[in-house]
Amino acid sequence: MGSKRFMLSNGLGDLLREQLPYANRFIDPFCGSGGVINFVAKNLNFKGEIIAGDLQKYAVVLARAVIGRTKVFDAEYLKRAWIEKAKKKLNTSKLLNKANGVDQKYSGKIKLRVNAARKLCKTPSKIGPVWRAYGGHYFSPKQAITIDYLLNTLPKQTKYRDICLAATIIAASRAAAAPGHTAQPFQPTAGAGKFIEIAWRTDIFKSCDSALKELVPLHAKVKGRAMVSDAKKLIPKLKRGDLVLLDPPYSGVQYSRFYHVLETIARGYCGEVTGIGRYPDISERPQSEFSNAGQSYKALEQLLSGLSRKKVKVIFTFPKGKSSNGLSGDKVIELAKKYFNLDKNKSRIHKHVIGRFSTLGGNNKFNKHNREKKSRVKSEELVLLLKPKKTYESR
Ligand SMILES: C[S@@+](CC[C@H](N)C(=O)[O-])C[C@H]1O[C@@H](n2cnc3c(N)ncnc32)[C@H](O)[C@@H]1O
Repeated sequence: MGSKRFMLSNGLGDLLREQLPYANRFIDPFCGSGGVINFVAKNLNFKGEIIAGDLQKYAVVLARAVIGRTKVFDAEYLKRAWIEKAKKKLNTSKLLNKANGVDQKYSGKIKLRVNAARKLCKTPSKIGPVWRAYGGHYFSPKQAITIDYLLNTLPKQTKYRDICLAATIIAASRAAAAPGHTAQPFQPTAGAGKFIEIAWRTDIFKSCDSALKELVPLHAKVKGRAMVSDAKKLIPKLKRGDLVLLDPPYSGVQYSRFYHVLETIARGYCGEVTGIGRYPDISERPQSEFSNAGQSYKALEQLLSGLSRKKVKVIFTFPKGKSSNGLSGDKVIELAKKYFNLDKNKSRIHKHVIGRFSTLGGNNKFNKHNREKKSRVKSEELVLLLKPKKTYESR
């Protein structure tokens, strides 16, 4: 989200602000962590329907928590009805006592603490998936069992469930003992051990409460829809007058590798996990043609040609240089021009500096030799405005 945050504060944000008043609906088929949707809900008085899609369920849950509502919810009510209930249940848990025992016994000895935590989390638990899959790795045993109880006590009413599940995902993503995303957890080495200690100190209940308070004021003017879907499957639902934001992957590594922990929380289950990253089986990790160098160009061409047939307007953001999924700014422009009128006056190149992990491996510019040291990289992103061909729309 690093790059998107900067882009929304000027280039992309300005273009959305300018174009949304002309749109009947706003469609975000690659909604990701919902950065753009939250921006539209928070800053723009958009009166049309918002539709979001993504291959990953966690992204859809985050989007739905905002666009699935037209009212502010009462965070204190949700805290009482959900977080307090989870706390009460957790306090009766034998696993909680054992988790606290490990924390106390090995306080200040991170390697021993991690080993004991991993051993403890092999104890079977029927409460939820996080304890077994990620306890002792991305989360302390206490954090893992807390997340499981939060999932276990989610409100039954869909409207409340959506926002509470979104708050759990946000809290877990902020707490995870991993660098920037959840491809691999920190290991208890001399260098990284301290990061585990810091991450494992996060109080999940408090973090969930903060996330709820951030989410409750965000809502749409018209109740929108969010669905797990391949972007191309949304095309039949589109029509003239729609404004479509395209922010497809630029990384040749699947997003589901980076976000499987959040995906497990969103789904409420996962099968066996393996490796240092604790990955579920590939069948549980959505695979995108856009993150496959052999398929990305064709996938983009199919998408753009489908969108052009629907006569929608498109805002397209993509890194200007070469990306690891085989696409590049030049290829994107070439395809965009084939199917749309590229509005040169309104399109721009956005320059900024972003965190290394924001690229998700999509930027090829790293120096092999100082990869560990380089924490900031320069990024140039295209923000293109594409208008339907052979029409009279001139705005
Ligand atoms: C660059 S990110 C989008 C970031 C988002 N705009 C934000 O503000 O957080 C790309 C997203 O596209 C999703 N994705 C990848 N392939 C997809 C496909 N074929 N259809 C729909 N979503 C896809 C990924 O799961 C990822 O969340």
